[in-house]
Amino acid sequence: MNNNQKTVFSGVQPSGNLTIGNYLGAIKNFSRFSGEYKTFYSVVDMHAITVRQIPADLRRRTYETLALYIACGLDEEKNTLFVQSHVKEHAELGWILDCYTMFGELSRMTQFKDKSAKNAQNINAGLFTYPALMAADILLYQTDVVPVGIDQKQHLELARDVAMRFNQIYSDTFTIPEGYMNPDTMKIMSLSDPTAKMSKSDPNQNSVVYILDSKDDIIRKFKKAVTDSESEVRYAEDKPGVSNLMTIYKAFTGKSFEEIENEFRGSGYGDFKLAVGEACADGLSHVREEFQRLIADKAHLEAIMKRGADEARYYANKTMSKVRRKIGFIG
Ligand code: TYM
Repeated sequence: MNNNQKTVFSGVQPSGNLTIGNYLGAIKNFSRFSGEYKTFYSVVDMHAITVRQIPADLRRRTYETLALYIACGLDEEKNTLFVQSHVKEHAELGWILDCYTMFGELSRMTQFKDKSAKNAQNINAGLFTYPALMAADILLYQTDVVPVGIDQKQHLELARDVAMRFNQIYSDTFTIPEGYMNPDTMKIMSLSDPTAKMSKSDPNQNSVVYILDSKDDIIRKFKKAVTDSESEVRYAEDKPGVSNLMTIYKAFTGKSFEEIENEFRGSGYGDFKLAVGEACADGLSHVREEFQRLIADKAHLEAIMKRGADEARYYANKTMSKVRRKIGFIG
């Protein structure tokens, strides 16, 4: 890494099948940083266990998420791709940052409030301190830019606050990270409730389009998407369903909202929904094919995750020796 090269870090939890929200809001944007930046992309399995996981599923999804990173265009030669739990420094810095993150700050996290409402039987301490571990992920690599969807903005701001607090107490230690949110795709909404975020943990399968859904499933789900009682394809705040579909269509075709409005003027929602489904399915077909090829070769994926972890550990340790020394740990 040359000294002027900026660093990018992001992560995805292997806690469910990845959605087009994950793809358009995050993973698709990751590759724009490859090459010019030093890029670390992690499969954050330690975050995933804040919600109870079936071990075999977690293991399978960890491989799948790595394979999807590559299938979505992340070249393993140009990016450091690794599994969070393979680099123990994440846990170590996570604990340290727990001691610099305030109870009040964590209590204000909307994701914690949402997840504790959904998992009332398992409001564990990890769910509460989740953002401190996320701060550790980012700060370990002296990250400049964190590409994420808008739902992670509050966590990112907390990471910045914790970094500034630490730097103020002990002198400059961490780079203060900035978020990168793609203005077009930072919040893809559910197809059945366009006022809620599309989420991989949504139990309603029709709300969510998964990256690996078949073409038929994708088209079927878009056909069922909730719109409104009008028939006009127009981007507007009071038309959240249609606007969300237009956002998705725009992301897959590169057409502007104006072009989309013109294309479907007078044709009603049926044709429009079909076109969105086809554009999405066609846009993902290459990802699906690449994924099938990659997931068939576990040994290759294991080699990639090992190499990624070795490389990540090298940079993580540089930060950790500074941190340990500054806070007064011996050695
Ligand atoms: P996760 O696994 O929930 O989601 C992965 C990425 O996908 C984005 N995303 C969306 N973007 C647009 N529209 C949507 N509907 C949508 N749903 C999800 C998320 O914003 C995220 O960028 N806490 C993180 C994982 C994480 C992390 C990190 C991220 C752990 N450590 C360090 C960045 C840096 C999470 O739960 O993402």
